[in-house]
Amino acid sequence: MKGIVLAGGAGTRLYPLTLVASKQLQPVYDKPMIYYPLATLMLAGIREILLISTPEDTPRFEQLLGDGSQWGLRLSYAVQARPEGIAQAFLVGESFIDGARVALILGDNILYGRMGLDRIVADFERSQGAVIFGYPVQDPERYGIVEFGPEGEVLSLEEKPEKPRTNLAVPGIYLYDEEVVARTHALEPSDRGELEITDLNLSYLRDGKLRAHRLGRGIAWLDTGTQESLLEAANFIATVEHRQGLKISCLEEIALRLGYLDLDQLAQTLREMPASPYRNYVEQVLAEGS
Ligand code: G1P
Repeated sequence: MKGIVLAGGAGTRLYPLTLVASKQLQPVYDKPMIYYPLATLMLAGIREILLISTPEDTPRFEQLLGDGSQWGLRLSYAVQARPEGIAQAFLVGESFIDGARVALILGDNILYGRMGLDRIVADFERSQGAVIFGYPVQDPERYGIVEFGPEGEVLSLEEKPEKPRTNLAVPGIYLYDEEVVARTHALEPSDRGELEITDLNLSYLRDGKLRAHRLGRGIAWLDTGTQESLLEAANFIATVEHRQGLKISCLEEIALRLGYLDLDQLAQTLREMPASPYRNYVEQVLAEGS
């Protein structure tokens, strides 16, 4: 299974923060926002990842993340020339996907807690279709909304409905089988001129191939789209990290624990890091691993 991180969009709601660096490059407490979705893919067992961003920001992501080898990953990059929808990621990434299955995560989605994504991905490898999630929120009209039937089946799916049928929003992480590129080619742009991820998911739903997992208590899906929610996300990360003395989404730590890097490789990654609290933490991880 391959992974795509989509980090496009103008991020205008965060102006002037986003004048010279995109939203997904902004700090969320002690690391750039993009680290969090990358960590989610890594924890799902995905190591071959395409990052898609705007013409201006793609080189900045490359500067930040490089080829991913410092975390035992294979990172590559592609440009979305215009913001024409989330599903366009599968057209921009068509040659990267190359007939494989793919997980898509949005570059501004922070997920924390045991959502069992590694298990869900492993199960998905043995079945067909697409997988989405549903997460309770207070402001459902801002999101894609899913409605479950009594057996946990998906009854309906709507993008930003005025009158949401449920409070279960669809987070920006999706799993797709080999049909995803062909299905995206068959989509028509919506009224706002975008290839909608919800329309792609509806195409799977119509064919009885869409499954959804309910996420609930014990899992944090944090929003980062406004100044307030960005601060709340940073405070959440800071609170948990300070209490436990553990970092959330430290990519070096995840790479070591999942065996993407061995101790020697982590020591090499560490040598290239400037003196900083972050480096101290990775040093501690290395010492505990030795
Ligand atoms: C997009 C999707 C929406 C989903 C959300 C998750 O909305 O269209 O279905 O719930 O991401 O972050 P956007 O944030 O682009 O408005």
